[in-house]
Amino acid sequence: MRKAIIAGNWKMNMDINESVDLMNTLVPLVGNASVEVVFCPPYLSLQKAVEMAKDTVIGIGAQNMHYEKSGAFTGEVSGEMLQAIGVSYVVLGHSERREYFNESDEAVNKKALKALELGMTPIVCCGETLAERESGAAKDKVVGQIKAGLKDIADIEKVVVAYEPIWAIGTGKTASKEEADQACGWVRETIASMYGQAAADKIRIQYGGSVKPENIKELMAMPNIDGALVGGASLKASFAQVVNF
Ligand code: 13P
Repeated sequence: MRKAIIAGNWKMNMDINESVDLMNTLVPLVGNASVEVVFCPPYLSLQKAVEMAKDTVIGIGAQNMHYEKSGAFTGEVSGEMLQAIGVSYVVLGHSERREYFNESDEAVNKKALKALELGMTPIVCCGETLAERESGAAKDKVVGQIKAGLKDIADIEKVVVAYEPIWAIGTGKTASKEEADQACGWVRETIASMYGQAAADKIRIQYGGSVKPENIKELMAMPNIDGALVGGASLKASFAQVVNF
């Protein structure tokens, strides 16, 4: 039985004061949830968020990290630095990072390996553009991202994958539950081809893209969907309705 995991990706929103306000609102509402709950605030709010989530079920995640421990990488933050403040999850290969910061599958793979080595849970994102979906190339895109981004991983069942079709992110346009489930199925099949069916049966796959209180229930009822990675709807009190679906 796979434990559901619902994560909020705050993206580049919420300064430290706003983060504290949001945590004050949400911690009492989701701190005892029966699903695994993760908040991914911006770097500058991580330490405070870890402190405020103490003694709750909420885990704190970063939205990116570097795969090297330290060195001349101006502006970057290492996994070790995140670990030192109690961060236990990290979102990797989000489509916005791939698009605006040229993040490659190879970099995602190095980061995922590093996160696991540090005992952190990587949430590895994949997903196709609208053009790829319309031209029938969605499956190839997702399979390719999984094969390259998740190669050579010893403990694959510790990884969480987030399938986020780019055309559904921030657009209000959710993939239908059938489309979302089918694509999460492509991810699971690919994991099975790489690591065997037992591993594929254990790995958790989230759907992301305009998830909100109104659609979470039907998405979570689908066989291949084990959770959600939520952007806009994770920034308000009603995120509690997503978590406690
Ligand atoms: P929205 O929920 O705002 O569509 O964002 C999805 C997302 O990109 C989460 O990582």
